[in-house]
Amino acid sequence: MNNSIISDWKPQHAEIYGKQNLLLHHRLADSGLFTKSALAELIDKCPSSNYTLNTMGYDPENPEWRQGVVRDVCGEEVIASIETGRMWLNLRAVEEFDTRYQKLLDQMFSEFQENMPGSHTFKRKMGILISSPLVQVLYHCDIPGQSLWQLEGEKRVFVYPTGKPYMDQRSFETIILKETDEEIPYNHEMDEGASVYILKPGETINWPLNSPHRVENLDCLNISVTTEHYTNDIRKNYAVNYANGILRRSFGMQNLSQSIHGPMVYPKAALAFVWRELGFHKSKQVKHTVDFALDPKSDDGMIDIPAYEL
Ligand SMILES: [Fe+2]
Repeated sequence: MNNSIISDWKPQHAEIYGKQNLLLHHRLADSGLFTKSALAELIDKCPSSNYTLNTMGYDPENPEWRQGVVRDVCGEEVIASIETGRMWLNLRAVEEFDTRYQKLLDQMFSEFQENMPGSHTFKRKMGILISSPLVQVLYHCDIPGQSLWQLEGEKRVFVYPTGKPYMDQRSFETIILKETDEEIPYNHEMDEGASVYILKPGETINWPLNSPHRVENLDCLNISVTTEHYTNDIRKNYAVNYANGILRRSFGMQNLSQSIHGPMVYPKAALAFVWRELGFHKSKQVKHTVDFALDPKSDDGMIDIPAYEL
């Protein structure tokens, strides 16, 4: 196991993976796929559908999240602008347009499968985050299972428990139904219940499914990787909460169970499937507006542009 991507996996981790916060060490840097020059090349070939560029406000209690665009700027300049600016570039599902990352992603998950026999994952994705010194990602939660892998720079990661007051059922439904961008109500007092990590290069953290979290970069460029995956239970969790959101909004039902076991799971899964396939909820989904462009010539690396909806 000397060349394994996770360098310090122990058999007892299988019991707690996905259930408790787990900080481990990795060797992703050995692949050579996350150096600045490798990422500059990757940016140059990244389709516009596979990245998001954001900038954000300074107060985590008052989210101010803007979306931007990269136009006619080479990858090297993009990274240099992020290093001096206040931006967050997410290269999403990189395995879709570069087979080297697909191969690495397969290797990562086959290692997990070896470490946790019987676990079956699908819809696996890899994202690469290149982000400015001192930027933050506001309080939010993700739907799939997720891990964060640090390659360069350092970030402070706050992970909160699931459930009230950190995340209530209705807020979670708004995320699943895409009525909001993963953001959920937050105030500073919640930090008392958070586990806080300074994530350093070579470290990776995994947390329980749907745990709210937020991130603050330290004063340095950050290069990080996110991996996401589904299992049968995660898919059921998605379907049950999606259906609950529909039942609450369209049928006025309350006291909805979030259990992924029992006789109601399959009817709920069917409802979620039909609702999604027929696009019944599309008109209520959040719309994204782009209103700045990355600009290597400006001091903060960005310039306002006339807003347009995606
Ligand atoms: Fe996240």
